[in-house]
Amino acid sequence: MAGIPVITVDGPSGSGKGTLAQRIAETLGWHFLDSGAIYRVLGLMVERAGISGEKIDKISEMAANMPLAFDRGKVLLDGEDVSELIRTETIGNQASKVAAIPQVREALLAWQRKYAKAPGLVADGRDMGTVVFPQAEVKIFLTASAEERAQRRYKQLKEKGLGVNLARLTDEIRERDERDSKRAVAPLVASNSAYQLDSTAMTIDEVFQRAMHKIRASLSDLRP
Ligand code: DC
Repeated sequence: MAGIPVITVDGPSGSGKGTLAQRIAETLGWHFLDSGAIYRVLGLMVERAGISGEKIDKISEMAANMPLAFDRGKVLLDGEDVSELIRTETIGNQASKVAAIPQVREALLAWQRKYAKAPGLVADGRDMGTVVFPQAEVKIFLTASAEERAQRRYKQLKEKGLGVNLARLTDEIRERDERDSKRAVAPLVASNSAYQLDSTAMTIDEVFQRAMHKIRASLSDLRP
């Protein structure tokens, strides 16, 4: 991993960090790691196994032996394409719960670091810049108000023809933020050296332009 450049994009759910990180990776021709997908797959495994969140040993063992693979934008669990299945609110909440278990985070650390491969990596999550890749060249922390994030999610779900309640969605987003920010290990927090962007009143294009401006400036500082 030494010498491989890394860009981290951290922030809460619905801030647009996934879209931003993916676009940066495509633009630079770098690898992309969606770390939230790993926690979501574990959430799905726990849900399917019907075990409760208290079974820490069992869940940590599952985390250490996840038959997970990313293949051309798809998330595969033991060969099964679970890309869509893991995007529900239920699995998002389940992911947030398993992600609060320190042993789970520890088990996934080395696995995530393996994704730092030439020519570079763009990693998106909550603790990419603080814990997993503290040496990253550029760290971005993307936020947006809970109301705006709930609105975006509401629109997405409606477009998929799913019935949703905006007030409940906002409450769920707040609850998840609270759990992700207050957990003891690797909480959702901006690294001191992170470039902070608030996307509440910005389009994804504006966010992307600003982020790329910052990235190009930082990378050219590194390679004069
Ligand atoms: O980014 P996301 O919504 O797909 O993440 C789902 C959950 O996984 C999120 O609520 C918290 C957890 N997560 C984490 O704890 N650390 C990460 N690096 C990424 C996600």
